[in-house]
Amino acid sequence: MRVLVPEILDVLAAEDPRAIRSRRDLVLVNRVMRQSTIMAKALAPLRAPKVWVDLGGGDGRFLLRTAGRLAAHWLGVKVLIADRQDIVSADTRAGFAAMGWTCQSLKGDILETLPDLSPDLVTANLFLHHLDDEALAALLGLVARGKAFVACEPERSALAVLGARLIGVLGVNDVTRHDALASVQAGFRGRELSQLWPNPQGWRLKERAVFPFTHVFCAHAL
Ligand SMILES: C[S@@+](CC[C@H](N)C(=O)[O-])C[C@H]1O[C@@H](n2cnc3c(N)ncnc32)[C@H](O)[C@@H]1O
Repeated sequence: MRVLVPEILDVLAAEDPRAIRSRRDLVLVNRVMRQSTIMAKALAPLRAPKVWVDLGGGDGRFLLRTAGRLAAHWLGVKVLIADRQDIVSADTRAGFAAMGWTCQSLKGDILETLPDLSPDLVTANLFLHHLDDEALAALLGLVARGKAFVACEPERSALAVLGARLIGVLGVNDVTRHDALASVQAGFRGRELSQLWPNPQGWRLKERAVFPFTHVFCAHAL
């Protein structure tokens, strides 16, 4: 069963030094988990979107790294980084601009901001596990109004629990150590996300574990 424990980063102010440090740790954690490689591989077969929304996109550094892997074939994309906090730096915005992309942040709870958007592509990295099944079903109902969705989340496995318990070896702070284990315990396995998808008939759904720690869910409209 998924166990949801509030994550510390979600309650810290954006300018809190522990939050700033933990967001920096997240860049390292994403690299160790190979999240942007896994996400880019899942996105590569898709047609280039005009508007791409990243749910719970944080400071946008993950999205920028992923976009960099696709930018040779995906031209002039508009990315919307949707998060409770508006923390996308000028450097990150400049990174998107350097690829010929535009980047906009969208501050607020995702269940309130998403209904106003009509993106071609929606992604989520280390975000869906924050939500309980009821909120997830509501969110996926909104996402399913679009054409494509890819999420890279923690796999709820014994190996991922071990990795989260050992994450201190990376030199990360107390917030990251706490949130890593909480994330795995709230993560996914099997076809848990497919089962919450609202209208599976019109969609091709794929869901699987990717070594070492990731759970990938892809939904493409038929
Ligand atoms: C673990 S961080 C991941 C950030 C980013 N995707 C990355 O990989 O670096 C989760 C993010 O979700 C955001 N978040 C949590 N609950 C949210 C909600 N209900 N609506 C919007 N953002 C939310 C947090 O502010 C945080 O930035």
